[in-house]
Amino acid sequence: MATVSLKGVKKIYDNKVTAVHDFNLEIADKEFIVLVGPSGCGKSTTLRMIAGLEEISEGDLLIGDKRMNDVEPKDRDIAMVFQSYALYPHMTVYENMAFSLKLRKMPKEEIDKRVKEAAEILDITQYLQRKPKALSGGQRQRVAIGRAIVREPQVFLMDEPLSNLDAKLRNQMRAEIIKLRQRINTTFIYVTHDQTEAMTLGDRIVIMKDGFIQQIGTPQEVFDHPKNIFVAGFIGMPQMNFFDARLEKTGDSYVVKCQDATVTPSAKIVAGLKANNVPSKDIILGIRPEHVSFAAAPSETTISGTVDVSEMMGSEVHLHVNAKGKDVVLRIPTTDLPEEHRGGFHYGAEVNFTFRSDLIHLFDPETENNLL
Ligand SMILES: Nc1ncnc2c1ncn2[C@@H]1O[C@H](COP(=O)(O)OP(=O)(O)OP(=O)(O)O)[C@@H](O)[C@H]1O
Ligand SMILES: [Mg+2]
Repeated sequence: MATVSLKGVKKIYDNKVTAVHDFNLEIADKEFIVLVGPSGCGKSTTLRMIAGLEEISEGDLLIGDKRMNDVEPKDRDIAMVFQSYALYPHMTVYENMAFSLKLRKMPKEEIDKRVKEAAEILDITQYLQRKPKALSGGQRQRVAIGRAIVREPQVFLMDEPLSNLDAKLRNQMRAEIIKLRQRINTTFIYVTHDQTEAMTLGDRIVIMKDGFIQQIGTPQEVFDHPKNIFVAGFIGMPQMNFFDARLEKTGDSYVVKCQDATVTPSAKIVAGLKANNVPSKDIILGIRPEHVSFAAAPSETTISGTVDVSEMMGSEVHLHVNAKGKDVVLRIPTTDLPEEHRGGFHYGAEVNFTFRSDLIHLFDPETENNLL
């Protein structure tokens, strides 16, 4: 059993840089948590404080019921895998994996059992007698993970373990980590700047920026209900489109004026706006590329533009459209395209599009927070 709890955790480095501000998170036993955010947002610092490699400046870290702030790293019952696998080059794979257990003076038979089990899980049994330099990047990373597994830690920490691998191997190892997670019953805290990894691996995702938590939620929650413009833009590929727009309230109804289009939000969004007493105001309207629909002809509800770039992806087309100087990205399933455009669009083609009224996001331009 290992819950991990961070209460008001803060990190101020010696150079007075505050890398992490007031970090609060309750991690359930066996939960897979992903910390994600751009470079320098404080992900590694947070992880290193949990590992005990960095001192906690303020706040409390609990693993289970035990306060760990002043407990030595080796006594925290955690294991960490880094981006640079840092294997011992003069030792075989077997010796690399057995090393920490030998230090603990574990009986030889128990060490042998654990190393072989971990090798089996990671499919590296055939490499146990090789030295790391005779392995590929992906195989080395498996050994690094194996070295952590054999310790049977209560909490497994991983800091960008896949970022040294090429795209194909990274996808493969991502699937391996999902399988690994099903086989070993441990709490995982995983750091990445890759939103795909975050979305596919995490039970919950913690999105960070400049040392502050922006949002905590399941992948679906942060995708469907981003709390602010940063989260909205960070999660989702291609990125959400943002427009300067105007919210108009008349009696009990709302419309959004965006360029030449009048968008009527869905009943659910209107109910939310009413509940929050939102008045008529300037807003930022957000719409994901996959929630923009292609319209055959212009009307009061459409925006018009000309095609800058048409990217044929096979099952869908990504269109970059210039709408009054604004670059708008549309993601359209090939099957939804009119026959003459099945192969894509030529430069300068005129197109009209509308927004799915239940899938628009409305943000306050000043606070950048979601109005709902
Ligand atoms: N030892 C240190 N001393 C002073 N400042 C540091 C130290 N380590 C990190 N920082 C600063 O703390 C902030 C957070 O760094 P951190 O390494 O936690 O970011 P990160 O989210 O892991 O970024 P990346 O994705 O690039 O690995 C950065 O501004 C960084 O410059
Ligand atoms: Mg880092």
